[in-house]
Amino acid sequence: MWLKNFFIGLSQNQMLNKAAQRYGFKLGAQSVVAGTNVDEMIESVKQLNAQGISATIDNLGEFVFEEEEALKAKEQILSVIEAIHKHAIDAHISLKPTQLGLDIHYDFCLQNLREIVSKAHKYNIFINFDMEDYGHLQPSFDLIDALSKDYDNIGTVIQAYFFRAEDDIKKYKDFRLRIVKGAYKEAPEVAYQDKAEIDENFIRLIQYHLLNGKFTSIATHDHRIINYVKKFVEENQISKEKFEFQMLYGFRKDMQIDLAKAGYNFCTYVPFGTDWYGYFMRRLAERPQNLNLFFKQVFNKKTNTFIGIGLGAFLLGRLTKGKKQK
Ligand code: FDA
Repeated sequence: MWLKNFFIGLSQNQMLNKAAQRYGFKLGAQSVVAGTNVDEMIESVKQLNAQGISATIDNLGEFVFEEEEALKAKEQILSVIEAIHKHAIDAHISLKPTQLGLDIHYDFCLQNLREIVSKAHKYNIFINFDMEDYGHLQPSFDLIDALSKDYDNIGTVIQAYFFRAEDDIKKYKDFRLRIVKGAYKEAPEVAYQDKAEIDENFIRLIQYHLLNGKFTSIATHDHRIINYVKKFVEENQISKEKFEFQMLYGFRKDMQIDLAKAGYNFCTYVPFGTDWYGYFMRRLAERPQNLNLFFKQVFNKKTNTFIGIGLGAFLLGRLTKGKKQK
């Protein structure tokens, strides 16, 4: 648990985030990030599509506090929508409301999202609202409620660690939903802390939405959950058209290809851009062995820069240890 808290703490460290943006790709971030710009990302998605895998594209970035930065992110996402259309790739968008200004002003964020959803609607492209930490949960649902009055090309995420997840999945039962365990550090007042309890709730939510008949994205790298779902859909005669498995770019690649080959809909979450630091630190919090992905790149390239940053991160973590983390 202390290691999880350590990496979640690092994920919110602005100084390291800036350093990572500058040096990240030299350090090996490309194993989990599909390029720094739209052209590189499109090439990565084409490779996935060639293997029968679709993509949900995430223009990396979150917790933005400057209007200018949020507007830049909006333009970037609009250009991704244009590129999906132009290249006719099998892909949709994942976005984070805090990247589009949710922490600046609700109406400002809503306006940015409206432009994005409206453009995507024109091209028949689906937009998934990623869910972030508890503080942003209800405002994100409010945004979805406002936009879904005018658009039907949006869906969102249900995080199984929240006590309220069952109520939320019932409320949003008519939406296309991605179901996940949950990636942020949350208080015991609002979220299960025990892995077994989270897994149990995760399964309950997956069962509910699958039986409900709306499209379900089961987003996990957990082979036990995947095997369970395979059995559950067979026993309940749920068509493969009604669900997909999702995993993150660069993780369990062989399993991604095997599931697609076995005839399951498979969608890879494809992050791109330079703002990869918070995203990757959460992956380390989930599974410290994910450091392997980094080290492989580091040693392939015979560079030791990462070790310097890693050491810096570790020391900084020790210095800030004990401070309350979000
Ligand atoms: P978990 O990390 O619990 O691992 C369970 C077991 O699976 C491990 O013990 C191991 O046996 C095996 N395993 C896991 N990873 C492995 C690997 N790389 N190699 C080998 N074995 C492995 N969260 C959120 O809060 N909001 C969101 O919007 C999203 N969106 C999202 C999209 C997609 C496509 C994914 C895959 C995930 C998210 N998440 C998310 C993150 C999610 O909430 C969760 O934190 C991570 O997926 C980690 O949980 P898992 O279910 O993958 O397995």
